[in-house]
Amino acid sequence: MRLAGKSALITGAARGIGLAFARAYIAEGAEVAIADINLDAGRAAADALGSMAHAIALDVTRQDSIDAGFAEAIGRMGKLDILINNAALFSAAPITEITRADYDRLFAVNVAGTLFCLQAAARHMIDRGQGGTIINMASQAGRRGESLVAVYCATKAAVISLTQSAGLNLIRHGINVNAIAPGVVDGEHWDGVDAYFAKYEGKAPGQKKREVGAAVPFGRMGTAEDLTGMAIFLATDEARYIVAQCFGVDGGNWMA
Ligand SMILES: NC(=O)c1ccc[n+]([C@@H]2O[C@H](COP(=O)([O-])OP(=O)(O)OC[C@H]3O[C@@H](n4cnc5c(N)ncnc54)[C@H](O)[C@@H]3O)[C@@H](O)[C@H]2O)c1
Repeated sequence: MRLAGKSALITGAARGIGLAFARAYIAEGAEVAIADINLDAGRAAADALGSMAHAIALDVTRQDSIDAGFAEAIGRMGKLDILINNAALFSAAPITEITRADYDRLFAVNVAGTLFCLQAAARHMIDRGQGGTIINMASQAGRRGESLVAVYCATKAAVISLTQSAGLNLIRHGINVNAIAPGVVDGEHWDGVDAYFAKYEGKAPGQKKREVGAAVPFGRMGTAEDLTGMAIFLATDEARYIVAQCFGVDGGNWMA
């Protein structure tokens, strides 16, 4: 029970990696706010996880929703020790087909959403005076460009940069800000990625997933559960001297 007594808010936790983090945190004794734009899915997830889980309606692109969602989560749990900025969108297109609307949509969720949720958590943690943990979900895509994935890659590079600046700014308050950079993680998100590659590279459905899985040095795609160890560790006191870093958890897919 490495997180007993801790309270966490995880954005985009109604499914996928965020949901696995919520499950793992509760197993370690934490209370978790499942903060997602999809409240129905968040409620179903919280019901399945039991009384230590709370479904919170939160759209990370709207400041009024961030303010209300954090207030509700802090009201229900009494405090916030941990934020995981996990909500994100993916898209792919050749450079000549990128639209301004898609660019704005991805930057609003992946970058502005990360920054202003981080800010809301930091303000609460500073007022409380007991420090905290903030984990931003980056990606191997933030470490280098990809031919068809310019916008998503740029958002994740921005997440790594924000992690560095916020990490340096907030450690004086005992708030550790770090990032996790997954590689390719199987789930509904990657079903969407696969569909983009089917469209732009003429691949059969499922083919891109098989190819990227086979190319991982570990020998397969990751699972959401492959990432939970790092998310737990970063929220423990064992990680107190780790500041402004981004950790690849990707089966050896990318050397930082
Ligand atoms: N799956 C992968 O291969 C992979 C690889 C690298 C990084 N990541 C990152 O890990 C994180 C989780 O990925 P995933 O695969 O679980 O994604 P996912 O698409 O399965 O889940 C994303 C969740 O975010 C929620 N969401 C979307 N827009 C939102 C908004 N405006 N406000 C609040 N919630 C919103 C969705 O409802 C959904 O529950 C993301 O940051 C993603 O970029 C994933």
